[in-house]
Amino acid sequence: MTDILAIRDLDAAALREILVLSEAAQLGKPLAGQGVALYFEKPSARTRNSMEMAVVQLGGHPVYIQRDELGLGTRESAEDVVRTLQCYHGLIAARVKDHSVLEQMAAAADAPVLNMLSDSDHPLQALADLLTVKQVAGRIEGVRIAYVGDANNVCRSLAEGCSLLGAELSIASPDGYGLADPPSGVRQLVDPAEAVAGARFVYTDVWVSMGQDSETEARRRALAAYQVNEALLSAADDAWFLHCLPARRGEEVTDAVMDGPRTAVWRQAQNRMHTARGAMAWMLGVRP
Ligand code: CP
Ligand code: NVA
Repeated sequence: MTDILAIRDLDAAALREILVLSEAAQLGKPLAGQGVALYFEKPSARTRNSMEMAVVQLGGHPVYIQRDELGLGTRESAEDVVRTLQCYHGLIAARVKDHSVLEQMAAAADAPVLNMLSDSDHPLQALADLLTVKQVAGRIEGVRIAYVGDANNVCRSLAEGCSLLGAELSIASPDGYGLADPPSGVRQLVDPAEAVAGARFVYTDVWVSMGQDSETEARRRALAAYQVNEALLSAADDAWFLHCLPARRGEEVTDAVMDGPRTAVWRQAQNRMHTARGAMAWMLGVRP
């Protein structure tokens, strides 16, 4: 039984296995006769839908649960909630405001626990990002990627994945918005032009993540020079544009880049379903 709360829970071999499983034509039905609990404390388009479809493809039944109906932490403790959910479900997946809630759930659960986004990490997104790089560039190792903007949950998981698989990630963020402890091989810079020089992929995410609304104006001011627009993209090496979505068009990215000939964001979104299937199959013991 293996939890995935963060990419750092995996080693390079496990990460490669999940990516292989994500592209496998047939994984069988490891969830046959079982449910998967999908618990959300925040909104979602891609994660909910890709996970629900991936569960169905693995032979299981997804149950979508919103925070208010469960009252986790108020009506019932996180520990008692997962002890209950695992009576019905073969796997428990959660999107939480506070990463420590996932740790509480994982500590109490016998069923595997999967992080569908927390304040610190978004491992399912990083799996789709790495698969997209592999498909577009033909490899991951040695590929130069630039991440421009707020070094948030998406950036942290991407950085850990790049570090494990040998992609050369450069992050550009203003002071106070970078990764304090970049994993080995990952560069934390300030200048966006320096980060994108020679990059094959340029990645960004929103300046204001879910739950940070009170910081909106301060974040917009701090990150204003970090917009991915045609001028910045042209400083890269004929680069592909990546974004986990949802995008705030006109803030961290322009329409021209989002809708331009070098956008890979819809392939990324598609890959969310394939990597969700690969990750869950791997957690249930399927191997390539
Ligand atoms: N990228 C992503 O996780 O999107 P959602 O928030 O819509 O699930
Ligand atoms: N950093 C964003 C990612 C959304 C998929 C957030 O946490 O809101």
